[in-house]
Amino acid sequence: VDPRIEHLQRRIAASPGVISFGGGLPSDACFPRRLLSRAFVAAVGSRALQYGWPEGSEGLRRFVSERLRSRGAAVTPEDVIITSGAQQAIDIAARLACRPGEQIAVGETSYPGAIDLFRTRGLRPVRSGARVRYAMPALHNPSGRAEAVVDGEVFLEDDAYAELRFDGLVPAPLCAAGRERVFHIGTFSKTLCPGLRVGWLVPPPRRMRRALRLKRDGDLQAGGLAQAVVERYLELTDWDARLARLRRMYARRATRLMEALERELPSWRFAEPLGGFSVWVEPDGEGSSTSLLAIAVGEGVGFDPGSSFRAAPGPLALRLCYSAVDEAAIGEGVRRLARAWAKLRAHDPGRTRVGRRRPAARLRALRPRPRPRAAAVDALVSSVGGGAARPGRGSRLP
Ligand SMILES: Cc1ncc(COP(=O)(O)O)c(C=O)c1O
Repeated sequence: VDPRIEHLQRRIAASPGVISFGGGLPSDACFPRRLLSRAFVAAVGSRALQYGWPEGSEGLRRFVSERLRSRGAAVTPEDVIITSGAQQAIDIAARLACRPGEQIAVGETSYPGAIDLFRTRGLRPVRSGARVRYAMPALHNPSGRAEAVVDGEVFLEDDAYAELRFDGLVPAPLCAAGRERVFHIGTFSKTLCPGLRVGWLVPPPRRMRRALRLKRDGDLQAGGLAQAVVERYLELTDWDARLARLRRMYARRATRLMEALERELPSWRFAEPLGGFSVWVEPDGEGSSTSLLAIAVGEGVGFDPGSSFRAAPGPLALRLCYSAVDEAAIGEGVRRLARAWAKLRAHDPGRTRVGRRRPAARLRALRPRPRPRAAAVDALVSSVGGGAARPGRGSRLP
């Protein structure tokens, strides 16, 4: 993590007056505190305070496998390891999939927590052309679109946002097309809450023993109490109804953000998100997204600089998360952003001149536009037998 960016992000988090489009946070207002409290009381009275097995709670593994089976993947509870968030699942998968010092392809843009982790593990993240590919085929962070995966032999499939596609059409996962080359990764962080740190890994069957060994070496098991809270909570709630509510709310926020961008910054380009938490935007000029962030914080607005999302340098871009911003504050946040952009241009007009990077005719918001990437993923999956996108079907803990 760039220390200058981290410093600005900590300043934003500590300043309640700043409207933050950064961080990729779920909406606090959607944490089901009342039901989680009931689940917690039930969990404390259970065996959850004792040590458990490294693979995690049987009930949660059954839940995860049923959800994956409803999307066409041949997964049983014995194939699932409950992890301390998706982050740990990415780590275990990367260590099993990659050879020391190897390149790992992450695409044009990707989740910074994975890019940084790969570097820490001595791997070399590149855009494309590597044997191992980290990807978010169902719903990509930061673009909010499906991600076409056209290269690679071994896949780290990060499914973190799959169930938050606005249309509710959760596509078949890559592991539905064959499990031997896919490490499937998921989490409750985006759909329930990140504080419990409950995610999962479905490794290729022949890597299960090694994956369990790495899990045990790392932290023995995911937090037993947190797992039990999630398991009890899933018994108390209608999970599919919750997902439907979340999709509607995030879709409304996404629409507010796109409308505000079209109004306040009409020359900025963005692709309409199909789900998830964010819009990826490319301003109409060059410059440093970190310098823009420094000015923006002074104007009372935050975002994530695009440079954090790339394995290699690219055009000026930013990720704007609508997920944790009240609908009523989104317009004001974008007005502040427009003021910051005007200041950056006034300060350094040569580098941020409009139209310098592209012909003026192309400087339009890319909305609405067709959805070629979703189609590409469906084609990929169906070409290897996984079937087309289908609505997510419910499965409840017994
Ligand atoms: C794509 C993606 N994968 C994984 C994670 C980490 O998830 P968890 O909180 O489950 O560790 C994030 C968090 O932002 C994410 O955006």
